[in-house]
Amino acid sequence: MSKLDTGSYKGVRDFYPEDQFIQNHIFSVWRKAVESFGYSEYSASILEPSELYKAKTGEEIVNEQTYTFKDRGDREVTLRPEMTPTVARMVAMRRRELGFPLRWYSVPNLFRYEAPQRGRLREHWQLNADIFGLESIEAETEIIQIAHKIMRNFGATDDDFLIRLNSRKIINSLYRLFGLDAESSQTISKLIDKKNKISEEDFSLDIEKVLGDKSKSFIELISSPDKLLEKIGKESEDVEEIFQVTRSLEKLGITNITFDQTLMRGFDYYTGVVFEVFDTNKENPRSLFGGGRYDDLTAVFSAESVPAVGFGAGDVTIRDFLETHNLLPAYKSTTNLYVAILEEKHFSDARVLAGYLRASGVNVALDFSLRKVGDQIKTADKHGIPFVIVIGDDEIQSKIYKLKDLKTGKDWSLSAEEVIQKILSK
Ligand code: HAM
Repeated sequence: MSKLDTGSYKGVRDFYPEDQFIQNHIFSVWRKAVESFGYSEYSASILEPSELYKAKTGEEIVNEQTYTFKDRGDREVTLRPEMTPTVARMVAMRRRELGFPLRWYSVPNLFRYEAPQRGRLREHWQLNADIFGLESIEAETEIIQIAHKIMRNFGATDDDFLIRLNSRKIINSLYRLFGLDAESSQTISKLIDKKNKISEEDFSLDIEKVLGDKSKSFIELISSPDKLLEKIGKESEDVEEIFQVTRSLEKLGITNITFDQTLMRGFDYYTGVVFEVFDTNKENPRSLFGGGRYDDLTAVFSAESVPAVGFGAGDVTIRDFLETHNLLPAYKSTTNLYVAILEEKHFSDARVLAGYLRASGVNVALDFSLRKVGDQIKTADKHGIPFVIVIGDDEIQSKIYKLKDLKTGKDWSLSAEEVIQKILSK
């Protein structure tokens, strides 16, 4: 019989301890940052009824990118491709009890059937931070401030990343000017989304197919922020709003922000300011964060809607970012001490000693292989465990252990109590 392939399913990752270490680092920076702003963690199942996404997630994601199947009871089920519909559902369900403004976060894994490539996989983890119940731009300001803070906490400088801002209201005004209905608006949004990936000629040709002889003036507006804002009206509330957000962020010292009228965001539920965070290094062209205001999504579930602003930040793109900018932490085992054992008769004493050390918070692994001591120590080194002791007759009798630091090669003869102090003081 042929052997099974050891590779993982297409577009998903296995996390060996070194990868999980990085993943944990990313999660820990995310969690600390959002908790410092007063966000509480929630969670939900990976499975959702498919209809949850049909209302407002966006045609492309629902029709082409979800893992959807029928369960044994003939219900249509989807592996969640994003968290926003789930959190909107949860908030809508308890909206009378929850107390607003409500600050929530989650770190779910999400599934999208995409062509795997750099920065895009079929399973990724995504920090979601959302604030519910605030209509004012204080919500946008805080959400973008958190995104900026997270980047800084990873060790990035402001030159390493750029925050791009746009507003659905501005884009909708533009579409109204050109008399676009819902369907052609969607087609045009998709074309604008691809604008920077195709040639100017191709872009013009595609726009012409939808707008005919109005396409020239449309392209002029969508290609120039100044002309576009002039046309919509610089003093209009919709335009003013986005500059208020920029000004409040500037007051916080956040200046790596730019207005980008071509920033579309692929979801139908956004209603106001939208933003994405990008690496300034062209090697990573995919967004690190994406989010915005979605005031009507909860209305899918109930009569009253709850205003909301939030973002999703992916683990795949942030890892690429950290690698490119040399910001990945060096691997460190969570095990502090490896105990090499010379003879089987010492197993029991070694277990007692390990138990004593563990009770004081030292993480200890025992080697029962009875291989040569050098080979046992090599295993410790391979696993990145920093300290080793060897247990033989002398150690059992004297209760003095030679603690060796595998990095520096230094060693010390110590009692069990002193071993604890040495390791925990490191
Ligand atoms: P999104 O722009 O689809 O937004 O995803 C947010 C982030 O998740 C992206 O910027 C990227 O870092 C990461 N991401 C998305 N898809 C993939 C993928 N296939 N592989 C790797 N990383 C990926 C949303 O999902 C919105 N629900 C975010 C949101 C929350 N808006 C308001 N609240």
